[in-house]
Amino acid sequence: MSMLQYQNGDTMPIFGLGTWKSAPGEVYEAVKTAIRLGYRHIDCALIYGNEAEIGRALAESLQSGVVTRENLWITSKLWNDAHAPADVQLGIERTLADLQLDYLDLYLMHWPVVIKKGEGFPLTKEKLISLEELPIATTWQAMESLVKKGLTRQIGVSNFSIQKLKSLLENADIPPAMNQVELHPYLQQTELLPFAQEHNIFLTAYSPLGSSDRPAALKAQDEPILLEDPTLLEIADKHHVTPAQVLIRWAIQRGTAVIPKSVNPARIEQNLAAVNVTLTAEDMAVIAALDRHRRYVDGSIWVVEDGPYTLANLWDE
Ligand code: A2P
Repeated sequence: MSMLQYQNGDTMPIFGLGTWKSAPGEVYEAVKTAIRLGYRHIDCALIYGNEAEIGRALAESLQSGVVTRENLWITSKLWNDAHAPADVQLGIERTLADLQLDYLDLYLMHWPVVIKKGEGFPLTKEKLISLEELPIATTWQAMESLVKKGLTRQIGVSNFSIQKLKSLLENADIPPAMNQVELHPYLQQTELLPFAQEHNIFLTAYSPLGSSDRPAALKAQDEPILLEDPTLLEIADKHHVTPAQVLIRWAIQRGTAVIPKSVNPARIEQNLAAVNVTLTAEDMAVIAALDRHRRYVDGSIWVVEDGPYTLANLWDE
């Protein structure tokens, strides 16, 4: 399995299991199966509502000796309602308790969006706080102290634009080591990727298969289905693999971490096997031409009437 090496020598498997939308009742088996098959990187978040169940699967896998803690890479994310410095440590402590772990390998600021503590959907402008009121840099300082306390080995962000990364880099003692973003052939992040590489920031590709199991409220009506793209089907046929495997291998060949979600044992296995596929330079060039700047997770859930967030100031584009 290819690894990404951080500045301090920590190594993270480039391929991992996504758990967004993995329902309690399904995710326990999915994580146990994945680890048994050889997955060593699990991507979690408090807001996914399933960390306690993932924690049971991790604890049992560790106890039974299938894997050691040192050989696992566990990522989780600070939810938007815990950006106040006093809440950041509470956020990771709750995640650690649920995951039954002493430390995380990577902790990410989930969105550059702030919600008042304890508030949730449906959002109104009263429930949101602007980044002028509670700046990213303030939250980041509290995240830096988590590293110093040994609660996480690495810290990073998610859903950050180049502009937000630049501003964070200017203000950080510990620079962000990761930016987890939506990334697939319809949204190739062709400007963000070289910027990140130049600044020693890795990218993790979320929704690498197009996340077609998103809740209806998060879906557009005219959505193209990534896994049914005719060009990807053709490349998959040529290599006798599936379109999902082409998507996973494409991400890895571009040097980005990738975390396809599955709760289906056969697909969990199939996705892991994609690390051994090889795409040719020609395949990569053909896929490069599929880019259409299409976000499946477009951020419009943060945009409310007269609220502080717009799609323009969220993505800085
Ligand atoms: P399932 O969990 O039933 O396997 P993403 O990682 O982009 O969020 O996509 C997740 C979606 O893709 C889920 O609906 C998941 O379903 C499905 N999926 C995962 N692996 C595969 C695969 N190898 N082939 C087809 N669909 C897959």
